[in-house]
Parts: sequence; C-alpha cells; structure tokens
Amino acid sequence: MKERLQQLQEEALAALQQAADLKSLQDVRVQILGKKGALTEVMKGMRALSVEERPVVGSLVNTLKDRLETTFVVRQAELKKQTIATKLASEKIDVTLPGRRATAGSKHPITLVTEDVVDIFTRLGFSVEEGPEIEQDFYNFEALNIPKDHPARDMQDTFYISDDLVLRTHTSPVQVRSMLKKKPPVRVIAPGTVYRRDSDLTHSPMFHQIEGFLVDDKVTFGDLKGVLTHFLKEFFGEGLGVRFRPSFFPFTEPSAEVDIACVICGGKGCRVCSGTGWLEILGCGMIDPAVFESVDYDPATYSGFAFGMGLERIAMLRYGVNDLRLFFENDLRFLKQFNV
Ligand code: DAH
Repeated sequence: MKERLQQLQEEALAALQQAADLKSLQDVRVQILGKKGALTEVMKGMRALSVEERPVVGSLVNTLKDRLETTFVVRQAELKKQTIATKLASEKIDVTLPGRRATAGSKHPITLVTEDVVDIFTRLGFSVEEGPEIEQDFYNFEALNIPKDHPARDMQDTFYISDDLVLRTHTSPVQVRSMLKKKPPVRVIAPGTVYRRDSDLTHSPMFHQIEGFLVDDKVTFGDLKGVLTHFLKEFFGEGLGVRFRPSFFPFTEPSAEVDIACVICGGKGCRVCSGTGWLEILGCGMIDPAVFESVDYDPATYSGFAFGMGLERIAMLRYGVNDLRLFFENDLRFLKQFNV
C-alpha cells in the first residue's frame, strides 16, 4: 500500500507539473483527487487493512492529499500568470502609433446656397414653410390657376403617380398650402425638391427650387422689385446689374422674369450668357386673383407677390460650376471643395 502511494505521488506530481494549461491542470486534478480519482481508489482499499495499519496509511494518504492540493494551487497560479503574460505580449498596444483622425464631412453646395437664400429672406421677416414632394393635383396645378387641359401643364413635364397625385413639378404648391393655413399678412420662403420628366446636360429629373411670397394689403409691384433686387445684390454682390422682363405664369398677373448681368463676363457677352450679357435667374409676379380665390383670400382686400427660382442654377453661377450633373454624382473630389 505504501508503495502504491509512493508511486501515485510521483505520477501525480509529474502530471501536475506537466499540465501546460489551466484546463489540463484541472483534468489532472479530477483524475487524481476526484470522486473516481486514483487516490480515492487507493483509499477504498484501506478497508482491507488491519486496525494497526489503517491510521498509519490514513495519515500518509492525508499528507499526500495536502501535498497534491498545494502543488495544484501553486501550479494553477503559475499557469494563470503565464496566460496573462502571453496575453499582454500578444495584445500589446503601441501608444506611439498616430491616432485615427475623424474625417469631417461638409455641406452640399445646394444646401449651402439654400441656407444663404433662406438667411437673406428670414432677415426680411419671411418664415420657412415646407410641403410634400408627392402632391395633389389641386395644389400643384388647379389652385395655381392651371386647370386640367390648360396648355401650361405642358410646360412642366409631370411625373404622374395617379390621376390625382404627382411628384410636385415646382415649389409653388407650398404657396397654396401656406395661404390655406394662415391669414394675411404672410411672408413665406419655401425651399424644396421638385421633379420633372426631363434629363439632359442642363436638366435633371430631380432638382431644387425656392419659392417665396408675400401677401398683405397694398402690396405693389414696386415692393416685389425692391425685395428681389435687395436679395440678388445680397446674394451675388452689390453693384450687380438686375433687370425685370415681362413674362407669363398662370399664377401671377402681371408676371416677370428677372435677369442678372452675367457673372462670368460681367455683361460683355460670353458663351454662358449666349452673348446676351444677361442670365435669367427667377420667375415672379403679382399673385393672380384666381389663386386668392382658391384659398379664400379676398382679392379686393389683399394683394401680394410671388417668386420662384432654381437652386442648382444659382449654385452654378455662384461657384462657377459648369455641369449640373456634378451636384448629383456625389463625387467626393467635387464635394470636398465646398468644405468651409
Ligand atoms: N413655379 C414656376 C416654375 O417652376 C416658377 C415661378 C414663377 C414661381 C413665377 C413663382 C412665380 O412663384 O411667381 O417654373
């Protein structure tokens, strides 16, 4: 029996020392000290011993048990330390490496231009309104004095969703929505996305407009001229040549288009202005009484002016961009140039 214990001790100590990781160390422990372990087996054999031998062997077994337990704990601590050391060595952080810089985005040029236009008009007391991009025929056409079969509907190549729903072809429906919500005096500026079935070098099926209008008693064409001239000079710079030209829109009477002196050649005539020295920049006019009637404003009491312009167009002129498509391609080399 003593020999068996001696042999077990040697084997067990060797096995504990040789265990290369915590898992196999634990396995060794179970194999020796566990319920079905080798030492337990030996202890079962003690029943066969004589009364004299039993305490002697018992004490040997206990000493061995203690010794193995201690060896186990020491070895376990060693292995734990080792594991941490390997982890630290393999996961070392090099604090001298340069950090990762957060890249700052920038606003899209159309956003920048929109914000500038809105800013100029809010300083004049206008407030911002928005409307839906999927619009009812009533707001996009009917209430703006463009009845069904009116030839003016051909001017705007419309995307129809159903008989009654369109992708709005302009921001003018926001005029109607705002007037139905508020009573005069009203001053509204309404930027937004609009859609037309048109796609070539100078037309995109999706583009942006900004609409503005003002209604009060005694509003005159002089007010319209004053406000728009002020805006254009704020936006493009003092000393800018501005002219008003008679035109036609179903929702304004009289109507005008506004030209600015060509920002490329200064009015001498070049390719951009087709040699005329002028660039058409917006449409405007005195709000037609028919529009007032469809929103229940009394045309005898109130008058007002409205205007609308394309934001891509004024962005192209401001930044000297010669291709409309650049605004929609999301090429970072283009967009990064507007980082402010
Ligand atoms: N809605 C017109 C268009 O898309 C632009 C416009 C012209 C708006 C004259 C107006 C206006 O408010 O008075 O072509």
